[in-house]
Amino acid sequence: MRPWELLDTSPVAGQAHDLKLYRRGDEYSIKTGPIELMNSRMHASEDVLAELGCKHLRQQRQSKVLVGGLGMGFTLAKTLECLTDDAEVVVAELVPAVVQWNQSHLAHLAHFPLKDSRVQVFHGDVGQLMSAKKLTFDAILLDVDNGPEGLTRQENEALYSLNGLKNAAAALKSGGILGVWSAFPAPKFTKRMQQAGFHTQEVPCRAFAKKGSKHMVWLGKKK
Ligand SMILES: C[S@@+](CC[C@H](N)C(=O)[O-])C[C@H]1O[C@@H](n2cnc3c(N)ncnc32)[C@H](O)[C@@H]1O
Repeated sequence: MRPWELLDTSPVAGQAHDLKLYRRGDEYSIKTGPIELMNSRMHASEDVLAELGCKHLRQQRQSKVLVGGLGMGFTLAKTLECLTDDAEVVVAELVPAVVQWNQSHLAHLAHFPLKDSRVQVFHGDVGQLMSAKKLTFDAILLDVDNGPEGLTRQENEALYSLNGLKNAAAALKSGGILGVWSAFPAPKFTKRMQQAGFHTQEVPCRAFAKKGSKHMVWLGKKK
């Protein structure tokens, strides 16, 4: 088997581990320390997050969607597929190098979503952006960590806390959808979403087509 080739390394503010981008043939991997954040071969559940989170918007003109974060661009690309040509999509990404990699090494993987004129990049914390926007989005799709625990970035725990979920609810329009991706089920998180004012649905899904690791997507409809 071919060895992994290190393509680039980027420090992440406040984090012990650098973010590293690797390639092996046509497969790409982003790692932080020993944890693989993303692998280009496994994005079925990231696609599900967008497909289900934006299902209600397929016919809606001028919809507004927030995607956090960018990763390898798969959720963003699927979001764009679901929306009309006059939609607006803001993608929030904390790490500048991830945006640069999506404009270079990784751009082809999800068919160049950053080149779509409907997309704006917010360079920063998706939580800050949600705090600044009230009743703005028709959907918010959150995939910034391994799940609702802030495993790769401790500060991300706040996004999945009751206050963080209320913050997301406030940034959504009435009837808007919050989609949350996770690598594992978390029944307490379902309850927390309900406490924050969402009707919830848990959608178990797989990392790779109908195979691979079991992931979870939550859909919360703002009451
Ligand atoms: C698992 S990846 C997202 C994968 C993405 N769904 C895809 O389809 O490729 C998580 C991304 O969120 C970014 N991130 C982590 N915490 C963030 C935050 N608080 N705000 C914005 N982006 C964040 C990471 O740098 C990383 O690019």
